[in-house]
Amino acid sequence: MTTLSSKATCNSHGQDSSYFLGWQEYEKNPYDEAKNPNGIIQMGLAENQLSFDLLESWLAENPDAAAFKRNGESIFRELALFQDYHGLAAFKNAMVQFMAEIRGNKVSFDPNKLVLTAGATSANETLVFCLAEPGEAFLLPTPYYPGFDRDLKWRTGVEIVPIHCTSSNGYKITAPAIEAAYQLAQTRNLKVKGVLVTNPSNPLGITLTRRELDLLINFIDAKGIHLISDEIYSGTVFNSPSFVSIMEVLVNRNYVGTGLWNRVHIVYSLSKDLGLPGFRVGAIYSNDHLVVAAATKMSSFGLVSSQTQYLLSAMLSDSKFAKNYIVENQKRLQNRHAMLVNGLKTTGISCLESNAGLFCWVDMRHLLSSKTFEAEMDLWKKIVYQVGLNISPGSSCHCDEPGWFRVCFANMSEETLELAIRRIKSFVNTISSSKTSEGLSSSSTKNTRRKSLAKWVFRLSFNDRDRER
Ligand SMILES: Cc1ncc(COP(=O)(O)O)c(C=O)c1O
Repeated sequence: MTTLSSKATCNSHGQDSSYFLGWQEYEKNPYDEAKNPNGIIQMGLAENQLSFDLLESWLAENPDAAAFKRNGESIFRELALFQDYHGLAAFKNAMVQFMAEIRGNKVSFDPNKLVLTAGATSANETLVFCLAEPGEAFLLPTPYYPGFDRDLKWRTGVEIVPIHCTSSNGYKITAPAIEAAYQLAQTRNLKVKGVLVTNPSNPLGITLTRRELDLLINFIDAKGIHLISDEIYSGTVFNSPSFVSIMEVLVNRNYVGTGLWNRVHIVYSLSKDLGLPGFRVGAIYSNDHLVVAAATKMSSFGLVSSQTQYLLSAMLSDSKFAKNYIVENQKRLQNRHAMLVNGLKTTGISCLESNAGLFCWVDMRHLLSSKTFEAEMDLWKKIVYQVGLNISPGSSCHCDEPGWFRVCFANMSEETLELAIRRIKSFVNTISSSKTSEGLSSSSTKNTRRKSLAKWVFRLSFNDRDRER
């Protein structure tokens, strides 16, 4: 048997997290309205499928872009041979224009400071490789995107130290919380190289406030460390307050050209805003030319293919299309978000008030049998196997408090979202009625719960079959 290296087998990848296990369970039994109506609905995947028609209409009107043609002439050979890791100039220009458009053109970006990568996954890892040695640390506010354990830690050997944020203040990043994380790193003998935030936040779906951004800048200034701002969801902000990019704050506070200006780096990708995770298009934006040069060298391990760059440079440099897409996509996200929030409200479940993202941060603390992460896992398993919804438990996002779940709303049809809400409603009713019976007779607690759950599972499959007819 092959003996794999310790890097290949070490478990800092995080693949055993319930976040990834939920995907595996979904793969075994995926919901399909016609073929598998009792299957699991995938609500654990932050994908944006709401605006494909806009992209498809553009493709239909601009057939040259996807057919390796320029002004009707084939450029197949040119694209097939192109392998410069600096990327196509036309594409980098189009990307920085799109990034500025998303930020209401309050800031502009220089294409020479942009490094193309195969998605934000590669951008985050590359930046960490460039900025830190194995055994050094980045501070991250909790809850955070479960993929960061893989992207920031696994191959780099870098550590993540949590900045503990709580629901009691709407998960705001505070000065004492950042300082406590810094001190915790010191006690663990970890040198802190920087702070990494996602703005808007995955999994919370909220944007950072100016106050928080100021706090972050002041902190990295005082400590002489880096700040990585993962702005992959910047185009999904559908409600006020509007998105404020870290670059805007730096410009407003006259940091341009200072040492700190060189220690702030943005990560971006078209996976969420344009709904193209399969195309693998990401970017690092840094004011530090040394970081740009090093990251460009490293980008050889995860380049964006030339035909993808060619296609997207044509699409994004169509500024009328890009402007319209951003506005229309945000409108659609807003409607979907309202559908989920209002649907859950009718079941007595509330969400953290949010203004961005492809998901809600849902409060199910009242449905736990005890205030523990074991109870959260028990509830999660019921929701996956009995209710038939794959959602992500807060513990997989390193949330400090049991009972919160991330629920995605943009990767399915309206009908599927309605069904998901009906399933939750039915489940919550069952729990409430079994709780009432428990109150009447505590000695028969387990039996009552089992019977009502069995009845509920039967009713659910019966209702679904009914719908099918
Ligand atoms: C905050 C954050 N960063 C990075 C990524 C990875 O994105 P990509 O598909 O561009 O690699 C994700 C994907 O979910 C994310 O949520």
